[in-house]
Amino acid sequence: MQKDQKRSRKDAKAQRFAEKSLAGSLRLCVFACVSFLGCEAKPPEHVTDPGHLIYLGFGSNREVQCSRCHGEEGTGGMFGPKLRGIVQRKGADHVRETILHGVVEEGEEEMPPFAQQLSEEEIEQVIRFVTTLTDSVAQ
Ligand code: HEC
Repeated sequence: MQKDQKRSRKDAKAQRFAEKSLAGSLRLCVFACVSFLGCEAKPPEHVTDPGHLIYLGFGSNREVQCSRCHGEEGTGGMFGPKLRGIVQRKGADHVRETILHGVVEEGEEEMPPFAQQLSEEEIEQVIRFVTTLTDSVAQ
């Protein structure tokens, strides 16, 4: 009887210890994840232009990220064409229309519309930034 009590007390102690260390590692894990994401979610320090920040996915709506498809430098990527020189070639209105309505070709959405995700002001900021992506800049 006494032996059993002793054992159960020992067991309880071991369990408390296990719970404690589990909680400890969980806390550590959460901390690591949060700091990792925190690092990931910071824009490069030299970028302060609001249009540039939106372009890179650091605007008020982080789901909007032009660089994901068009490349960080606007040179084009796996999903989208080059944007450098686009305003000079096709004009700001064409860029605005594309951002607002996206591009659908043969029933396929090539580029999503961003009219719902960005305010008018933010769209103008992105256009201003895209205007700076000229062809003459060394790529
Ligand atoms: C999911 C990928 C994707 C994202 C995100 C995206 N685009 Fe596009 N974009 C495309 C594709 C693909 C095309 C080419 C569509 C076509 O003409 O077939 C395109 C076309 C364009 C064009 C027209 C290019 C031309 O030659 O006429 C502009 C301007 C443009 N995108 C700007 C933007 C801006 C600004 C953003 C961010 C607000 C953005 N895109 C986000 C995929 C994307």
